[in-house]
Amino acid sequence: MSKLIISGPVLLIGANGLLGSEIASALEDQKISLIKKTSSELDITDVKALADAIKKIKPHWIINAAAYTDVDKAETERDSARLINATGPSHLANIAASLDARLIHFSTDYVFNGEGEKPWAETDSREPVTPNWYGETKLMGEKAVLNYPNHLVLRVQWLYGKKRNRFSTLKNRVTFSPFIDQFGAPTWTRDVVKALLVLMAQEATGLFHFAYDDFASWMDVYQVVKEEWKLPVKLIPAHTRDADLPAQRPLNGRLANEKLKKQLGVQSLGSWKTSLKEFLSQVQND
Ligand SMILES: NC(=O)c1ccc[n+]([C@@H]2O[C@H](COP(=O)([O-])OP(=O)(O)OC[C@H]3O[C@@H](n4cnc5c(N)ncnc54)[C@H](OP(=O)(O)O)[C@@H]3O)[C@@H](O)[C@H]2O)c1
Repeated sequence: MSKLIISGPVLLIGANGLLGSEIASALEDQKISLIKKTSSELDITDVKALADAIKKIKPHWIINAAAYTDVDKAETERDSARLINATGPSHLANIAASLDARLIHFSTDYVFNGEGEKPWAETDSREPVTPNWYGETKLMGEKAVLNYPNHLVLRVQWLYGKKRNRFSTLKNRVTFSPFIDQFGAPTWTRDVVKALLVLMAQEATGLFHFAYDDFASWMDVYQVVKEEWKLPVKLIPAHTRDADLPAQRPLNGRLANEKLKKQLGVQSLGSWKTSLKEFLSQVQND
């Protein structure tokens, strides 16, 4: 990627995660002054530790890649999920604003109720209810961040990347049952981070969806994995209602990308299939 002018220093919280690790390596490639923190080095729920770190580092940007991401466990570990996904981001948003730092935070399609088939726009209402407690806590978190006009929230979905390759499981299976009724798009962390760096160079603010131009079901996704890797696995269609998961899943998670395309000045954000095929060819032998 060509050199972008991004102001530093950048404080990256949750630097060990799937998205956090991709952000870290991209910022390092760009030679931007970066301070990375894992959960043991900086706990997002510890308001004093956050304030002390931010006062000391004086970051231009704070990127919060930390989250409680186990959607099913969140149904029972409700307090932990709320502390990490809502209370922590709220502390960060307040402290960042008071110290003139800009916060970047990530949210999810799970803030929407999953009804209908239309892609959700940033302006669409998240009411009446989010489908599960994870989505509820992420909604609280993004609202707290968006209380401040200078912060940035990027909603993403179905992430994959080098840190956590969710597709390799297919290599050892005789049969596999992907959902045919959940729609969205598998999203390569590399592509999210490319867009993020441009948004940072633009000093963008507000709420954006990162999404490609097209959508898929999980069945479509695993069909591509099976074909690209020439696997013998038999794919058997599954329905969400039959899965008996602790957390309810939204069926329509399609995210519209018009606002982001306009902001980035591009006609297209590409196809999920093209990105997935490129990723699969890179990791095939890992
Ligand atoms: N993965 C997806 O498919 C997906 C979909 C939609 C939205 N998102 C959103 O995208 C963002 C990144 O998700 P991800 O999949 O990259 O998450 P992830 O891989 O689960 O990583 C989350 C990171 O959060 C850190 N963390 C947890 N509790 C913390 C605490 N109390 N203080 C500081 N750090 C803490 C963990 O740090 P340690 O490893 O150091 O313990 C972990 O590395 C999140 O906002 C998530 O909600 C993800």
